[in-house]
Amino acid sequence: MTLPSKSVELMERRAKLLGPNVSTFYDEPVHFVKGEGVWLWDADGRKYLDCYNNVPHVGHCNPRVVEAICRQASTLNTHTRYLHDGILDYVEKLTGTMDASLDTAILTCTGSEANDIALRMAEGMTGKRGIIATDATYHGNTALVSQLGKSNVPTVGFGLDQYFRFVDAPDSYRNPDPDGAVFADAVAEQIAEHEKSGVGFAALVVCPYFLNEGFPDHPEGWLKPVAEVVRKAGGLLICDEVQSGFGRTGTHMWAHQKMGVVPDVVTMGKPMANGHPVGGVVTRGEILSTFRKGYRYFNTFGGNPVSCAAAMAVLQEMDDHDLIENAKTVGEHARSRLTLLKQRYEFIGDVRGSGLIFGAEMVLDRESKEPASAFTDRVINAMRHRGIIHSKLGRHKNTLKIRPPMPFSIENADLLFDTLDEVLAETPLTR
Ligand SMILES: Cc1ncc(COP(=O)(O)O)c(C=O)c1O
Repeated sequence: MTLPSKSVELMERRAKLLGPNVSTFYDEPVHFVKGEGVWLWDADGRKYLDCYNNVPHVGHCNPRVVEAICRQASTLNTHTRYLHDGILDYVEKLTGTMDASLDTAILTCTGSEANDIALRMAEGMTGKRGIIATDATYHGNTALVSQLGKSNVPTVGFGLDQYFRFVDAPDSYRNPDPDGAVFADAVAEQIAEHEKSGVGFAALVVCPYFLNEGFPDHPEGWLKPVAEVVRKAGGLLICDEVQSGFGRTGTHMWAHQKMGVVPDVVTMGKPMANGHPVGGVVTRGEILSTFRKGYRYFNTFGGNPVSCAAAMAVLQEMDDHDLIENAKTVGEHARSRLTLLKQRYEFIGDVRGSGLIFGAEMVLDRESKEPASAFTDRVINAMRHRGIIHSKLGRHKNTLKIRPPMPFSIENADLLFDTLDEVLAETPLTR
């Protein structure tokens, strides 16, 4: 297939205006012009099933969210230094979905900002700066937070790398750790290293469902041992729910609830306002007030009335359409279809997921479990040409990443897997 001339022109303009090495998805990038529900349309009018985007959580261009944004934007938009009930109503509803101790919030515009605040909260509470994360994750792009992406660690970084230590990302397929004890021990070891170096231990930051790491298969309550280790050492447990939150796993509103822990700080973003830029940090009042004493924090756009109206509409849509339950039902169906594919295709090594995050790990050989990374890439590109949008992730980038908007249906899942079956049958398993 060759790219339409309009796409070629856009690629050239992007390189000129946004820099030569700005990334795009796919060997032949897609030019979307319209979205509705779980569907996207390109500039030639071709329709695609969106099995990837979690930001349009309640569906692309969801009418309730669009209407809430329009209504508030045509009434008033200021910032949080004026009184407004929109932010209070929203934070009340949001924190009402968590443990009673997590009852205050700061709203931001991105997940990166939320994580940046969380790290500074940990410093404020502990008086120390040592942070621990997994070695195959991503938590955002500020100078501080970008240090958490080990595979991404910048060559320039204001000398902050001394404050960050890493543990092996959990991998239920290659190195099973069914009760989380190995992970807890690894974190304990890095805590000791932080203490030994004089930096001291401030916090462990994890996505409670380890999505960027390839969503390993863990039983409920798996984070309990590591939470104990962190608490015993006087540090904070920060759960980054930017991807795993808002009912994505189909069993709980928050993945930390599924994993059996009450974090000290929860951060969020992406799906929060269906594409309107909203992120947030939820924590205990004591942590928030300590942070505010240390930093005169103000975020011009964070928590503005339009953002809060959009975010509130997302929660209402989730409630009204029972979207967590939908994620559970459709996710179970999806995994059973994937399991059937695994019985037919030797290169599917493992099937994982919960709710509307699911996928399969592709291997060259089931015995050696050698990752089939290039093959996975070819599958994803072939799917794009057949009108199905999804991606890959994990340490070896060989795990299909399927994480659609929450109104995804059984019928949508069947179209995805019928197409995947055809693509797998005709894609050669070469390196
Ligand atoms: C787990 C996680 N945390 C934080 C972020 C950063 O969020 P943002 O791009 O809104 O700054 C991302 C983005 O992909 C993410 O996956």
